[in-house]
Amino acid sequence: MALKITVIGTGYLGATHAAAMAELGFEVLGLDVVPEKIEMLSAGKVPMYEPGLEELLARHVTGIEGSSGRLRFTTSWEEIGEFGDVHFVCVNTPQKHGEYACDMSYVDSAFESLAPVLTRTALVVGKSTVPVGSAERLAALLAEKAPGDVELAWNPEFLREGFAVQDTLHPDRVVVGVTSERAEKLLREVYATPVEEGSPFVVTDYPTAELVKTAANSFLATKISFINAMAEICEAADGDVVKLAEAIGHDERIGKKFLRAGVGFGGGCLPKDIRAFMARAGELGVDQALTFLREVDSINMRRRGHMVELARDAVGGDSFLGKRVAVLGATFKPDSDDVRDSPALNVAGQIHLQGGQVTVYDPKGMENARRLFPTLGYAESALDAVRGADVVLHLTEWREFRELDPAALGEVASSRIVLDGRNALDGGKWREAGWTYRAMGRPRA
Ligand code: UDX
Repeated sequence: MALKITVIGTGYLGATHAAAMAELGFEVLGLDVVPEKIEMLSAGKVPMYEPGLEELLARHVTGIEGSSGRLRFTTSWEEIGEFGDVHFVCVNTPQKHGEYACDMSYVDSAFESLAPVLTRTALVVGKSTVPVGSAERLAALLAEKAPGDVELAWNPEFLREGFAVQDTLHPDRVVVGVTSERAEKLLREVYATPVEEGSPFVVTDYPTAELVKTAANSFLATKISFINAMAEICEAADGDVVKLAEAIGHDERIGKKFLRAGVGFGGGCLPKDIRAFMARAGELGVDQALTFLREVDSINMRRRGHMVELARDAVGGDSFLGKRVAVLGATFKPDSDDVRDSPALNVAGQIHLQGGQVTVYDPKGMENARRLFPTLGYAESALDAVRGADVVLHLTEWREFRELDPAALGEVASSRIVLDGRNALDGGKWREAGWTYRAMGRPRA
């Protein structure tokens, strides 16, 4: 009989994982403690913007015409316990307020609720990003509180927002931290299709599996901060960081990816993961091993401040008082509506606090942005945001912004100055339309 799978937590990770498991042919039951989310998902609606996810849900959610009917959602833990052979825990681990460490309370409470309903033989699989050592602790919790024959495995998730469906169905690798052959065998069954299609399957112990995730994100963050440090040097020495990245990227050992200089990284993962990793290293007595991540973080945060300075220079140098600033982009990256730790909104917020009149436009992130920064101004289109602006900041590289007509924007702007915080606009096109185009880490033309 085909395995029955449950997915606990239906955020970016869980909703995508649940739909992907149904796509792979399994019967899936998803759980969330927020009833509104369950109502939406049961109707085939996604509570966030993620390309392709709604289509995938529609293919599988029970009750939707033409669907496989393999995917259902519930708020009942008992139902989860009765249903599942394999339970994936996909709840989030945000940064604790005012601390570097991550908040494990959602993971802990998911395990506390799950353990007592596990009356039959089952495998619990942690997917959340956690501090190393958590799996061992949670395995002990299950051993103590689950009535059935229950084991734990750790299987970190590497999906990127905006590519969540693709990354889940065709992962770069599947990493499983296990303590028994039985657990490994079950997970090989779960991931049989992607592994047949070429995804490497890496078997490790618990701590290594937990660390693979934080190490990968730390490496990615380091790459971005490295190129942003080079952007600082380029600006001082009149070099061009985009050309530099292209040239060093030809060396396959370095590679071309993740070397886009600009306002830096944000989102719900990279910033909090490197901080939580530093906090954990401190607890383990090896904080020196990760002091470089402090620098990675501070280079990254400096980018935001630097963009604010460039904008202040552009509007005259002294202050933002009486100046109108158009901000194109609110999300932390394109193809997402996620504004968590978004460099774009951080820059917009700083300028607003310094007296500037900021108007933000984003193709998908407006609702979330308004909720988080209610005092900023918002426009319904890029053109409206730019109307009357003394400077335009391009801070999230949506395709829509690359396709804008600089001539039309120039008609409505108060001054034709655009600062490209993502090195993604066609500077030549903007200059031809009469704009002063300035990009981070590139020479002034
Ligand atoms: C990241 C990891 O990529 C993913 O593997 C992990 O599972 C979760 O964290 P995500 O946060 O969705 O994924 O976004 P990612 O595409 O990695 O981008 C993170 C941030 O870095 C964005 O703000 C992006 O704009 C920025 N970035 C990325 C750069 O500034 N330069 C680059 O070259 C690449």
